[in-house]
Amino acid sequence: MYHIDIMTLFPDTVGDVLSESILGRAQERDYIRILTHQIRDYTKSKQKQVDDYPYGGGQGAVMQADPLYQCWNHICQQHQTKPHTIYLSPCGKTFTQEDARRLAREHNHLILVCGHYEGIDQRFIDGYVDEEISLGDFVLTGGEIAAMAVADAVCRLIPGVLSHDACFEDESHWNGMLEYPQYSRPAQWHGMEVPAVLTCGDHKKVERWRRKQSIIRTRDRRPDLYAKLDLSSKEDQKLLSEIQAEELQKPLPLPITCTPATPEAWNEISWPHTVPMPQHSYVVWHGPQPAACLSLTPLAAEDDTEIQDGKWSAQEPSVWLQFHGQDPTLTHTDLMNRVLSCVHHVGQELGFSWVRTATDKRNKPQLAYLKEAGFQYRGNLLHGNARQVAYELRLK
Ligand SMILES: C[S@@+](CC[C@H](N)C(=O)[O-])C[C@H]1O[C@@H](n2cnc3c(N)ncnc32)[C@H](O)[C@@H]1O
Repeated sequence: MYHIDIMTLFPDTVGDVLSESILGRAQERDYIRILTHQIRDYTKSKQKQVDDYPYGGGQGAVMQADPLYQCWNHICQQHQTKPHTIYLSPCGKTFTQEDARRLAREHNHLILVCGHYEGIDQRFIDGYVDEEISLGDFVLTGGEIAAMAVADAVCRLIPGVLSHDACFEDESHWNGMLEYPQYSRPAQWHGMEVPAVLTCGDHKKVERWRRKQSIIRTRDRRPDLYAKLDLSSKEDQKLLSEIQAEELQKPLPLPITCTPATPEAWNEISWPHTVPMPQHSYVVWHGPQPAACLSLTPLAAEDDTEIQDGKWSAQEPSVWLQFHGQDPTLTHTDLMNRVLSCVHHVGQELGFSWVRTATDKRNKPQLAYLKEAGFQYRGNLLHGNARQVAYELRLK
């Protein structure tokens, strides 16, 4: 049986919450045992006081070391052991699913210490606490909510607590990814439908769809987790190409327009972009919102950017295309296709015959957009960044 003892000023509230539902049933069936302890019962103060002024001055009160120690010692003596002791603290390491797994795997008995007021006397932490855990970068009034969260996350991983292991093996954070979207009956609700693949009865197709959705969600919501994912398998690579191909097509809802940039419009752009505004700049709008900005600089014959292993094909007047920023929330839409078609129109209207540009050869999505818009590869650029490749679009 997995034991958790929680030291708190609110033992009834904490005990009640953790005796409900799944954790309550798991306790009745002896898979886990969660006991709460009133720290006040261990103070020698007649007023049952457990806090005092901080040495050195400052706001509020600090929980004293001795009542905490007496409570902790009582638990240790009851069990004839020193359980792994955790202090819930905003100064601790942020709790993750990996920590929950570690605590479930490496221990069978935890003591969770809930602080209150301005926190607890450091000497109790130094002498008796094995680790400090934080729920996140915010401050709670007491450690109870954090202790309940840790107890819940650990207990549900104890064999027998959930009906079967797949219940958590599929979930967010188990394999470093977020979970796919879930749906339940009815199939139509408020005009919204369940994705057809989930009702087709083909398990392999469902699995594939779910993995794809997990990849997209993790990428969009948690780039930090996405960066650590290993998506090198053949199946994942195929999913990634599918995702990219589909997103190139995802249409933006509002009209796209392109206007010469004004300093006022440029200054109002809220996403990262080149500052100050370069000459010959344009803003591409999605409805009333700026969606991208770029410049189209007329090229004189003498400012020819040289190509190492090829050449520009044009003799006619050319314009140099450079991107200066894009709304990151529109990355996975057809924005870039629409921007490039704006470039085509503006370039033609200005009377140019060719648009030239350079891009980093590792920027695969950008290369795909350029090709789709009809740009032709001209070779590696001779000067500047070694990874830049030249592309050219014929306008007439
Ligand atoms: C108001 S806080 C004390 C904050 C402390 N003065 C500080 O600035 O680090 C009172 C208690 O709430 C708990 N607590 C507050 N924020 C927490 C968090 N993010 N994670 C875990 N416990 C937290 C701790 O047990 C702490 O002793």
